[in-house]
Amino acid sequence: MLQRKPLAIKESKMIHPFLLLILLTLAIVVADFDNHPGKLCTDISNKDACDNIELDQTFECAENVNSMTDCALNIINEKQEFAILQPEQAFLAASFASDNVTVVAEVTTEKRPYRTVVLARIFYNSFKDLRNKRFCHPGFKHDELITRYVLQEFEAKIIELNNSYCQSAAQTLLEKRLGALSSFFGPSCRPGEWVIDDPALDAALKKSYSNLCELCGPEKCNVIYQEPFQDALTCLRNGGDVAVTSLSHALKFFNDSNNIDDFVYVCPDGRPKKPRDGHCTFTEQMERIVISERSIVEKTQNYLNLNLAKHKSLNGFVRQSRTSLPFEDSLEVLLELSDADAITTIQAIPLKAYVSNRRNIPSISKNTYCEETVNWCTVDTKEQEKCLWMQQAALNAGLQPVIHCAQTKDKDPISCINDIKNGKSDVAFIDVDYGYSASRSGLTYAAYPETYNKDLAAIVVAVRAVTNVVNLKGKKSLVNPKCF
Ligand SMILES: *[C@@H]1O[C@H](CO)[C@@H](O)[C@H](O)[C@H]1NC(C)=O
Ligand SMILES: *[C@@H]1O[C@H](CO)[C@@H](O)[C@H](O)[C@H]1NC(C)=O
Ligand SMILES: *[C@@H]1O[C@H](CO)[C@@H](O)[C@H](O)[C@H]1NC(C)=O
Repeated sequence: MLQRKPLAIKESKMIHPFLLLILLTLAIVVADFDNHPGKLCTDISNKDACDNIELDQTFECAENVNSMTDCALNIINEKQEFAILQPEQAFLAASFASDNVTVVAEVTTEKRPYRTVVLARIFYNSFKDLRNKRFCHPGFKHDELITRYVLQEFEAKIIELNNSYCQSAAQTLLEKRLGALSSFFGPSCRPGEWVIDDPALDAALKKSYSNLCELCGPEKCNVIYQEPFQDALTCLRNGGDVAVTSLSHALKFFNDSNNIDDFVYVCPDGRPKKPRDGHCTFTEQMERIVISERSIVEKTQNYLNLNLAKHKSLNGFVRQSRTSLPFEDSLEVLLELSDADAITTIQAIPLKAYVSNRRNIPSISKNTYCEETVNWCTVDTKEQEKCLWMQQAALNAGLQPVIHCAQTKDKDPISCINDIKNGKSDVAFIDVDYGYSASRSGLTYAAYPETYNKDLAAIVVAVRAVTNVVNLKGKKSLVNPKCF
């Protein structure tokens, strides 16, 4: 009855992690009415490994999984499944999970996830003291997924000190905010891509707000940071006044007795903290976690304890042939566990509680700046729900302006086309059959989805033709064909 999907997964893994997050939220959920208890949900497609773990009849692979978002949704929809989520996946799913979605174990490895901190020279007492000072940013490229939201958390506080930046003549929200940052700080270094996937705009902004690249040295913002958090501290020591870095790098930095008397931690509430008195962090990333539907919590924990007990002691498992994987190796493949990973079962706790104990989940209300939103028109409840996932994913990733999802009155695409035409909405998915109506109403296509699903391929994203291209730039990652 149920068919295994062809392997359309690997391809998506190539996509930039931020875009992948967005992609995940848009993945079509294929209904699975099989109620067989006990499924392991993974986006790794490996039939041999699945056949192998099915032998003991405790858990089998969930079918029709296109992305880990499907796994989260399955568990939210009370299917008896478990899955390992990456921290940002868990962070997103927490916004939508009922209390039946339960965290049952943590997956740790030698290197713990990042914890961001801000350091400043000893003169520091409050954010205002940083005016005209030299700012050292680590850039946006890191070994682990660190969202722009997290990397811009400190900057956001600085920008909000300026209560008039929304009135600046700049056309886009992105530029307004960069303008505020640039006018606040003196010569600074904020290397890497300011704008995703648009080198021309990126270069133009770096020219307009060149003080933000001045402190990087002769290569300006093109400087390539090999170890970004360390490099930000080097920038700090070589004339900078304030830097975003990680706690582990800061601790090493303060091991040097000169630094401990010259610098302090900047806390998220703006207060300084002397390193001798401890530290304060902006964001502490979570570990990977195992989530499970509530009714199978015990079963999942027993299964992990029983079958992955020796996990830590395994040395580089070598697979003899792809058709005869040993049981534990098969589990490792499906759960993407490497030798250094250790699974620790914990007292079961709802995902929402687990996540909100560890991180602040960004809200639309606190992250809408200058009243700017991308208004996304949806036709029905299902599309509205999907839009809300995308809205939260974009928010978590730090994309601006925020998306605002609104269901149109008449529940049909023509009504969305009219909303866009009348300026009530900005963007909508439109079936290609409505293309003619759309273009007659002066709308244009922002993107075509790139997908293996034939039904989806007939959908386009429509925006007002008169929409200034520059205005769309801030929204570009959202209308990039790769996303849909
Ligand atoms: C949790 O699951 C139970 C059945 O296992 C169900 O009756 C209940 O409605 C679920 N709660 C939520 C909030 O979904
Ligand atoms: C606020 O930002 C605007 C431009 O973005 C800038 O011109 C202005 O000087 C800033 N005001 C303060 C007090 O920094
Ligand atoms: C600090 O320095 C001591 C001695 O040089 C060293 O043993 C320790 O590991 C260092 N701590 C950090 C966090 O680097």
